[in-house]
Amino acid sequence: MTPPDYEYLRKILKDHSGLDLSADKQYLIESRLLPLSRKCGVSGISELVQKMKAGSSSITAQVVEAMTTNETFFFRDKVPFEHFRDAIVPDVLKARAGRKSIRIWCAAGSTGQEPYSLAMSLKEMGAALAGWRIEIIATDLSTEVLEKSKSGVYSQFEVQRGLPIQMLVKYFTQTGELWQLNPDIRAMVQHRQLNLLQDFSHLGTFDVIFCRNVLIYFDQDAKINIFDRLARVLEPDGVLALGAAESVVGISDAFRSCPERRGLYRPNVTRTARAGVTAMTLSALKAFAAAVP
Ligand SMILES: C[S@@+](CC[C@H](N)C(=O)[O-])C[C@H]1O[C@@H](n2cnc3c(N)ncnc32)[C@H](O)[C@@H]1O
Repeated sequence: MTPPDYEYLRKILKDHSGLDLSADKQYLIESRLLPLSRKCGVSGISELVQKMKAGSSSITAQVVEAMTTNETFFFRDKVPFEHFRDAIVPDVLKARAGRKSIRIWCAAGSTGQEPYSLAMSLKEMGAALAGWRIEIIATDLSTEVLEKSKSGVYSQFEVQRGLPIQMLVKYFTQTGELWQLNPDIRAMVQHRQLNLLQDFSHLGTFDVIFCRNVLIYFDQDAKINIFDRLARVLEPDGVLALGAAESVVGISDAFRSCPERRGLYRPNVTRTARAGVTAMTLSALKAFAAAVP
């Protein structure tokens, strides 16, 4: 790979997925793209780049997918799932008792361990959620991980990472060396392909958003932009969960942290209200300007 190839790939990756690679990540590109070039039957990374430059959108999509880091496991970091069970859902049960519905978005769900951990947690709550409409939407940039997530099939190694044995026995069926999540849990999760760099307002509004271990790969501007748009699709009393190494602090004032619950954030309602007033003021000014002959 020549230095211009590397610069070209860096730019494409940033524009297409938000991945912000520093100047010294050639080894990462090589370790991910050499296997892809073999799979595509080309001689190496330079030829992949030539095909991308010639306009092959399929190669570009495969390069972007190959560069995503899909690492995940059941109940990753534990604490956010304890918060989910002990505070987030009990709060929603009170706040939404009238409409009896809860909408959850897993914004970079990868191969499904995170959305299914949420689904199993809700299932464990049993009668408390009887009669409730539960929606868990798992999205990801990568269609490959979404396909695996939809299948709900995991290896022995994967089910040994973070999943309590009681849940394995209760919610999975073993087929040879693999374990498949039972249909009732799989049915709780809907899957959609979605790039966080693009508009997601069509998903509607959510009570809970898990957006974990993805923004860490993005640059500051992309993070600010995504936090802004996440705040707009989160209910004013909703909760955003970020990964252990992620935070809004010092980046965006669209959210405020929950001091008693590390990793959880609430929309900054005063800011949203201010933005609303500004928007109202602007639209009033426009209406006034339009009315002036
Ligand atoms: C490290 S995994 C995190 C999975 C899970 N949230 C967790 O914390 O275990 C990051 C996921 O983000 C996805 N991703 C990367 N860039 C994305 C983008 N621009 N839009 C949506 N998803 C993206 C990747 O495909 C990958 O599956």
